[in-house]
Amino acid sequence: MLLGVNIDHVATLRNARGENEPSVIEAAKICIEAGAHGITAHLREDRRHIVDNDVFSLKNDLKCRLNLEMAATYEMKKIALELLPDACCIVPENRKEITTEGGLNICDEKEKLKDYIKPLIQKGIQVSLFIDPDKKQVSAAAEIGVPFIELHTGAFSRAFGTENEEKEFMKLKQAASLAHLLGLKVNAGHGLNYKNVHKMNEITGLHELNIGHSIISKAIFTGLDSAIKDMLNIINKS
Ligand code: PXP
Repeated sequence: MLLGVNIDHVATLRNARGENEPSVIEAAKICIEAGAHGITAHLREDRRHIVDNDVFSLKNDLKCRLNLEMAATYEMKKIALELLPDACCIVPENRKEITTEGGLNICDEKEKLKDYIKPLIQKGIQVSLFIDPDKKQVSAAAEIGVPFIELHTGAFSRAFGTENEEKEFMKLKQAASLAHLLGLKVNAGHGLNYKNVHKMNEITGLHELNIGHSIISKAIFTGLDSAIKDMLNIINKS
């Protein structure tokens, strides 16, 4: 299973002072050197953390494998087609949310999303759609011809250690198994941490996990290199 490290919150810290530290590029370099398979960055409409210059530097200077998270807007499509990230994860975006709260509603926006992802796929970008672990959404994703989905693990993460954990876990497991049956590749992410991530090893065939907040939080105490290595150790044990 691959690890994509979401470095948005390195940028959050940097932007708190409006200057250049900590460096997003330096952080990404350490992640890759520690064994992470790629860097994920969410370029939000309000540019609250990652900014345009970050994603262009990650792609063109550091040349790391870049997964660009973005909303399905005209502005973001234009940027993605110029940047040509290796992968692109389309997420719903709401200005008031603290973080991505739910998955896309593909069922209600099939035609719009199909048209939106077409030029990205044609440019060779590995496009994924971020969805809740809901069978209807998985089927709709397969219908519109996207190669990847990313399952939102937020509900599972919140339920971890409670009576709802198994129920939320089964939703992920069943959604992944349907997706595989329909020929989709499956990523997962949101809220995964050092305590709950081992459960992802029980879901057959997951391609990549995108993890940010828990890794960057741990890095404050242990350093980024060790935070990445500890996470890789868990997700590579099955
Ligand atoms: N995947 C997607 C699509 C996300 O929007 C986020 C949060 O930006 C993540 C993964 C990572 O979530 P977390 O920071 O909780 O690990």
